[in-house]
Amino acid sequence: MNSRKLLSVLFVVLVAATAVLLYNENNKLHKAGVPANATATTDAHAMPIGARLEIKAPLGLPPVPIPADNPPTAETIALGRRLYYDPILSIDNTVSCATCHSPEAGFADPKPVSQGVGKKTGTRNSPTVFNAAYFDVQFWDGRAPSLEKQAEGPVQNPVEMADTLANVEKKLNADPSYREQFAKAWGPGPITYEMVEKSIASFERTVISANSPFDRWKYGHDEKAVNASVKRGFVVFTSKQKGNCATCHLVGEKYAAFTDNKFHDIGVGVKMEQVTDPGRYAVTQKESDRGLFKTPSLRNLTLTAPYMHDGSLKDLKQVMDFYIGAGNSNPNLDKEIHALDFLTGQERADLLAFLNSLTGEIPANSGPPRAR
Ligand code: HEC
Ligand code: HEC
Repeated sequence: MNSRKLLSVLFVVLVAATAVLLYNENNKLHKAGVPANATATTDAHAMPIGARLEIKAPLGLPPVPIPADNPPTAETIALGRRLYYDPILSIDNTVSCATCHSPEAGFADPKPVSQGVGKKTGTRNSPTVFNAAYFDVQFWDGRAPSLEKQAEGPVQNPVEMADTLANVEKKLNADPSYREQFAKAWGPGPITYEMVEKSIASFERTVISANSPFDRWKYGHDEKAVNASVKRGFVVFTSKQKGNCATCHLVGEKYAAFTDNKFHDIGVGVKMEQVTDPGRYAVTQKESDRGLFKTPSLRNLTLTAPYMHDGSLKDLKQVMDFYIGAGNSNPNLDKEIHALDFLTGQERADLLAFLNSLTGEIPANSGPPRAR
């Protein structure tokens, strides 16, 4: 074979190999594009029947993560909104999601610990539902893998709604107006709790809030959106040699979720150098996770007092003092937490001004729906 022939044979082989590769890639893409994966089709999961709705993220937040098996539709969002504000989810019809995550309180609760049915109380502060859509996992200890799974928790929690998923299904199936609304969102057939949790999760994915003065300055490039104190406070917040806050409360180039989606012990709820709540340990059973809690987002802080997993700090001044004193020492205290007593009075005031600039716009259509 001369070199010319050899070259053309090589060429043919190359073309054939590329074709096979392309075909395989294409096949993979096709499979990934099918919304219901192999398990979903065999398990017959509920899928919304309406047209997929694009949720537009406000200035300062990334696109909202959407699970493949629950694309939001106008119908499922409206249904989720109704369910969120309806005490029908609780055993005695007295407590709704909004009881503890109220729009009047920044979708959180002004009480350090919330009151469920019969005024029973738990041990943790209700975090805001604002921007929960951006967390990889839900709850202070991350025990729920998704907003959908999270919505199974409160209904069955004895100190929250004290109901059962089966009983909620029964009550909803007995309500003609819910039957009609579920059929419009999910198609005909009995109402299942899977439809309930998916609807609530889709509503929560619209309860997102940013476009704060900080966002308009940092991401909208409006120099007048904040004053000089806020701009200096941002430097204190992000600088490793100053506040070191952004190490955990992340700020990106294009947007800021103000969380690393990780767990840390910053020394909250410590008595006699021991943490009182096991935190992440309850999920992983690892001693190194004892007393670790999920980094909360700092957006809308001015609406969501009190602060921390136990609601122990009543205002932002107390939070500042807490960090300046390096939390409470205990075996798992994070290495990134150290005393900030070197911050000047001006720097402290600037940091506080920055935290106050993170309150954003309340999304439209997030309050209680009009009575039907
Ligand atoms: C009685 C008060 C109460 C009720 C009712 C309640 N919650 Fe909560 N919620 C809490 C508390 C307290 C936590 C934190 C618990 C923990 O982390 O262990 C929480 C956590 C959450 C989280 C996790 C947020 C995060 O930052 O990780 C979401 C989302 C949420 N609730 C949504 C709901 C929805 C939806 C409903 C209704 C189906 C509901 N809640 C009902 C008190 C309540
Ligand atoms: C090592 C990681 C880490 C660093 C550094 C850090 N934080 Fe936090 N922050 C957390 C975690 C985790 C929590 C929740 C702790 C808990 O409840 O036990 C939290 C809670 C907060 C809260 C309460 C939010 C709420 O909704 O309850 C505020 C405010 C806050 N941090 C501001 C700051 C500021 C300001 C700084 C810098 C001075 C800072 N953080 C540095 C991880 C961190």
